[in-house]
Amino acid sequence: VTVYVPRDSAALAAGADRVARRIADEANARGIKLRMVRNGSRGLFWLEPMVEVQTAAGRVAYGPVTPADVAGLFDAGFHLGGTHALALGLTEEIPYLKKQERLVFARMGVTDPLSIEDYEAHEGYAGLRRALTMASTQVVQEVLDSGLRGRGGAAFPAGIKWKTVAGTSAAQKYVVCNADEGDSGTFSDRMTMEGDPFVLIEGMTIAGIATGATHGYIYVRSEYPHAIATLEAAIARAEAAGYLGSNVMDSGHAFRLEVRKGAGSYVCGEETALLESIEGKRGIVRAKPPLPALQGLFGKPTLINNVITLASVPIILTRGAGFYRDFGVGRSLGTLPMQLAGNIRYGGLVEKAFGVTLRELLYDFGGGTASGRPVKAVQFGGPLGAYMPESQFDLPVDYEAFAAVGATVGHGGLVVHDDTADLSKMARYAMEFCAIESCGKCTPCRIGSTRGVEVIDRIRADHNRVQQVALLRDLCNTMVNGSLCAMGGMTPFPVLSALNHFPQDFGVSVPDKK
Ligand code: NAI
Ligand code: SF4
Repeated sequence: VTVYVPRDSAALAAGADRVARRIADEANARGIKLRMVRNGSRGLFWLEPMVEVQTAAGRVAYGPVTPADVAGLFDAGFHLGGTHALALGLTEEIPYLKKQERLVFARMGVTDPLSIEDYEAHEGYAGLRRALTMASTQVVQEVLDSGLRGRGGAAFPAGIKWKTVAGTSAAQKYVVCNADEGDSGTFSDRMTMEGDPFVLIEGMTIAGIATGATHGYIYVRSEYPHAIATLEAAIARAEAAGYLGSNVMDSGHAFRLEVRKGAGSYVCGEETALLESIEGKRGIVRAKPPLPALQGLFGKPTLINNVITLASVPIILTRGAGFYRDFGVGRSLGTLPMQLAGNIRYGGLVEKAFGVTLRELLYDFGGGTASGRPVKAVQFGGPLGAYMPESQFDLPVDYEAFAAVGATVGHGGLVVHDDTADLSKMARYAMEFCAIESCGKCTPCRIGSTRGVEVIDRIRADHNRVQQVALLRDLCNTMVNGSLCAMGGMTPFPVLSALNHFPQDFGVSVPDKK
């Protein structure tokens, strides 16, 4: 009998370790021989800990399971797929999962995260094998043709970045994975590192071979201890199996990987501050140019991509660029693992092709708010993303469609608020967050964010409100146009969207757009 109990942080937070121990003890006491796999999470977080059992018909799920449920589950014969109040049927048939298009997350929760054999049995390393039969220029071309864009948030075409690094002639180049997932309500990077680490390692190895980089770093935020431990164990196993090292799969290419731990600064997710941090310096943003692709880590050409961008590469190489670009709309091709969080009934991971609407995500998947009250606003794209009102819920998730209304897709995280939310408070929080996290290098962000908090306080206290609203718009304009990086440059997105779509929360009756 094979039983799966997730080891993902979200499942652990819900008590998965205690459930796993109870299941092992109970099986022992009953003389039942049981093989337990600690898999990644399927991403249906309201059902965690979600325990699965292998049956002849497929895997059957039960959840959310508490230690107190375990004896009853055995009584009901759950280890043979028996019926029980917590039974959810065949895992793959759960509508939340069945309606998804999982390409990057295809193995998530299916395999044992640290088993290379399991990874290989599920198309793992097929991408690297194919890449090794191609010229490096062809590998870069495949990524270009796939239409893959940077999934960290900026949506810059990945292939162009790869081509830039590949085109440099330096004795040393680097691949850096940005795993400093700092956006509110996001967890797709973490799930990947904890639940399918080899897909990231494979993607980085392909990137190294395509660009001529022999050394890679994964910069992980310190808040992700499980991801760090899983990656380190996975790297050691990939090395032992010959997938990493001085001669990757006897190809003559060298590629080594190291994990670097961040120290809790949001701005270290900005690529140049991240490089400073790896170099052992304070995380302050560098002026661009030079682009990291030309002069990055230790002054050498460096390919920096987000976890999901790199994790999308193996399937592109395995199935081909044409397969990948068949998903999506317009210039937003492929799929995006979206993360439903905040005041939402069914929070979790939803990977869909671009083009899915916000309304489908919120209601068909999310089931509306957890509080049962109407949705008032959705912040899409992290703390620097715009607040989107009901009138925008039919927009397709598409970089260009979002940009056209002043919103951002970002890293695909959405945080839901019901009608009790006060958007003037949220706008104040955006400025306060910027003031706390600003690296301090440029004035519009460092000083502007603090002044922004004061101005919003005056608006909220009805102190010269009309004049202060004009001042806030002026300040936001300066921050957008004068900040060195996205921290100061995008903080006005949540602020102005709150003001424009919810003027009543600021005590302004008509949208006062200039
Ligand atoms: P950016 O637009 O300046 O650059 C995007 C990437 O393309 C960078 O790696 C840059 O070096 C590269 N690039 C630009 N022009 C190039 C060229 N000609 N050749 C080769 N490479 C080139 O955006 P940035 O500042 O890197 O990222 C901002 C985004 O980060 C925001 O849109 C925001 O959504 C996102 N973000 C994500 C967070 C997360 O936790 N995932 C947190 C905060 C922000
Ligand atoms: Fe630093 Fe803010 Fe300027 Fe970015 S915008 S460089 S975080 S001060």
